[in-house]
Amino acid sequence: MDVRYLLLFFLFNAALDSYVNGAIPPCDSEIYCTGPILHQVQKAKLYDDDKYFVDMKLREAPDVVLAAFRNLTMEWPNATVPPVQLQQFLSSYFEKPGTEFEEWTPPDWHDKPSFLEGITDGKLRLWAEKIHQLWKQLGRKIHTSVKDHPELYSQIYTPHPVVVPGGRFRELYYWDSYWVINGLLLSEMRDTAHGMIQNFLYLVNRYGFIPNGGRIYYERRSQPPFLTLMVESYYQATKDKEFLRAALPVLEKEYQFWIKNRSVAVSVSGTLHVLNHYYVHVGLPRPESYTDDLELAEGLSDEQTEQLWMDLKSGAESGWDFSSRWYVSDHGPNNTLKDTRTSHFVPSDLNALLCRNEKTLASFHRLLDDSDSATLYEQAAARRMEAMEALLWDDERGAWFDFNLLTHTKNIEFYPSNLAPVWAQCYSTAEMGEKAVQYLKTSGGLQFPNGVPTSLSQSGQQWDYPNAWPPLQHMLIHGFSKLESEDAQELAFDLAQRWIGTNWLAYEKYEAMFEKYDVNGDGKPGGGGEYEVQLGFGWTNGVALQLLDQYGSRLTSGSRGLCSGFLLPLLISADLVFL
Ligand SMILES: *[C@@H]1O[C@H](CO)[C@@H](O)[C@H](O)[C@H]1NC(C)=O
Ligand SMILES: *[C@@H]1O[C@H](CO)[C@@H](O)[C@H](O)[C@H]1NC(C)=O
Ligand SMILES: *[C@@H]1O[C@H](CO)[C@@H](O)[C@H](O)[C@H]1NC(C)=O
Ligand SMILES: *[C@@H]1O[C@H](CO)[C@@H](O)[C@H](O)[C@H]1NC(C)=O
Repeated sequence: MDVRYLLLFFLFNAALDSYVNGAIPPCDSEIYCTGPILHQVQKAKLYDDDKYFVDMKLREAPDVVLAAFRNLTMEWPNATVPPVQLQQFLSSYFEKPGTEFEEWTPPDWHDKPSFLEGITDGKLRLWAEKIHQLWKQLGRKIHTSVKDHPELYSQIYTPHPVVVPGGRFRELYYWDSYWVINGLLLSEMRDTAHGMIQNFLYLVNRYGFIPNGGRIYYERRSQPPFLTLMVESYYQATKDKEFLRAALPVLEKEYQFWIKNRSVAVSVSGTLHVLNHYYVHVGLPRPESYTDDLELAEGLSDEQTEQLWMDLKSGAESGWDFSSRWYVSDHGPNNTLKDTRTSHFVPSDLNALLCRNEKTLASFHRLLDDSDSATLYEQAAARRMEAMEALLWDDERGAWFDFNLLTHTKNIEFYPSNLAPVWAQCYSTAEMGEKAVQYLKTSGGLQFPNGVPTSLSQSGQQWDYPNAWPPLQHMLIHGFSKLESEDAQELAFDLAQRWIGTNWLAYEKYEAMFEKYDVNGDGKPGGGGEYEVQLGFGWTNGVALQLLDQYGSRLTSGSRGLCSGFLLPLLISADLVFL
């Protein structure tokens, strides 16, 4: 990596930071991303969920639909079509969402993948079989008409079938797919996993990066970059070097996007450090949450509005949409979603992930005997670790905190992401890992029976207390299980037992896997945010299968509240009743 280039880029980025540019639209479609149809349909609130309209299929070519709408608007004062006529217009020119999929049962699904045998508890084993069955329900194949007539769809064509998260998410999602693919590999569904990875490689070749999800309204924002780790998982399962060789240049292309388009440089005691942030330079409402974004911006100036919309999209890019984690703290505890300034934070988890990507890209180059390239990536990882230690690491508290670029201070609130560098193994001394264990124990994050909450702040947003999310549990557990001390490893097991217990109890009650859970209660799905909790659910299933695989000989279905001796004192001291 050429550091001089990064510096130049930083200057360019800094110029953008004054937010003087005109608004860039979320995509080029005048139907799905901008324009009067989107505006009027969403404002009329014809559907419960703004995502419904932008997932509909056109019955006619876009210019015909636009012309028909222009004609229709001429019949009404101020060009505003009343709801009944809007509905009629939609019936004539649009189809219900979901028509772009063919039924598809993954052909590589089979009954008894071998990991099931390692699960000792009979009830958990039966349950794991049911989760394994769910892949059949979540498989989707995109109709070839999407390839032949992309202009009629918001769905982005991808050449291979996908496993979707479930519920309202009628398309592939980027970071979700990492845990889905890990689950598929345990389920011995290598072809399906391979196809999903091929789809992502296709998207990098088409866009230069991977969009948030498989819809054109996600075209200008990404999500936490997990593709390199997907390829790593697949390589570990198959040892397929030719696959690795073909994928590597595409992975590097995606990496370049993050370096060129998402870098920030920060000077600490005279040393300039380059790290990454989420930053989507698109100052219009999210088409799929259009009215939410309009309403949130009421009363703001044009400039404030544009900035808010960019930072909401940057929040979506972070995967944490939305969270008090991205609020700037002018109003202290009275902060609201309006205070979201995602791009003004240097996030601990994004940089941990990129560090792990750099190390993984280095290892791929070593495997393929290109030691010069391997060295470059190792140097990039070393530089990043140094920067993370200078900017994010707090030696007294023992964790890595997001750095606020406005105040030049760390955000010392508790989030599981403060421990992401443990998961990524991106820190320089074993002592730091052990300090991180002590940090978690005293953070307040362990005082709940069902898992580690996303924060300790009850903001009403879905990436906050009391919700706990599968990927965050998995990253904590996986990270701690890799540490030396028995203490750390027992903590990892304990968190796995809690999480599996929660998923299992909720399954017993609802016969469903949820996208998130409540840290309180007995097997309760999570809530809050912009939409109802969703069933399915891709990453939940993937994480559950991975934990059942990792700890299959120890996990039990019936031990809630009895195990985990060292958590009890914490629970009691926090005055929590959970039995
Ligand atoms: C719009 O109106 C014009 C004039 O009445 C008509 O010729 C045209 O066919 C209409 N277009 C559509 C798409 O309805
Ligand atoms: C049309 O717009 C004008 C000016 O904005 C407004 O005063 C009037 O009430 C509007 N009429 C309707 C029917 O919405
Ligand atoms: C990344 O930044 C470059 C300019 O440095 C710009 O041309 C390109 O469109 C950006 N890519 C994306 C996907 O935003
Ligand atoms: C928060 O809101 C309350 C009630 O409106 C007010 O009394 C308090 O001063 C506010 N706190 C801050 C830090 O703005």
